[in-house]
Amino acid sequence: MKIVLASDHGGFELKEEIKKHLTKKGYSIIDMGVNNTESVDYPDYGKRAALMVADKEADRGIIICGTGIGISIAANKVKGIRCALCTNEYMAKMSRMHNNANMLALGGRVVGLGLAIDIVDEWLSAEFEGGRHENRVNKIMDIEISKEEEK
Ligand code: RB5
Repeated sequence: MKIVLASDHGGFELKEEIKKHLTKKGYSIIDMGVNNTESVDYPDYGKRAALMVADKEADRGIIICGTGIGISIAANKVKGIRCALCTNEYMAKMSRMHNNANMLALGGRVVGLGLAIDIVDEWLSAEFEGGRHENRVNKIMDIEISKEEEK
């Protein structure tokens, strides 16, 4: 599985740790930055990673800013993206099982390293349940289509 990672300065350290962890586990990683803690704008990085997932250049995306909020909002503006901001393993599992989230957002200033790694592992191993959830997820994606029709 190919995973794209991106963060702003608030998520840089956690991104680096997640990269090490996932590389060790054998995942193929695409790192879209940042490469240091210099201040940047999180929407640029959320969008960059989201486009990789939307264009199927990566199977999944994990994005990190200080809280995870800004970067997840930005990623969710990209067509085809279902980005879930998770602060615990249960949310991570359910975001896959019920929402078929294709991106995970984390807050580098919110979750500690151990918890973040557990969230990532849970999120990567849980599968979408389909069934009644399929119709609900399709309804989310239909909102994108009706937005386009309004134009
Ligand atoms: C940057 O200071 C901070 O605003 C950003 O990392 C993030 O938390 C935004 O939602």
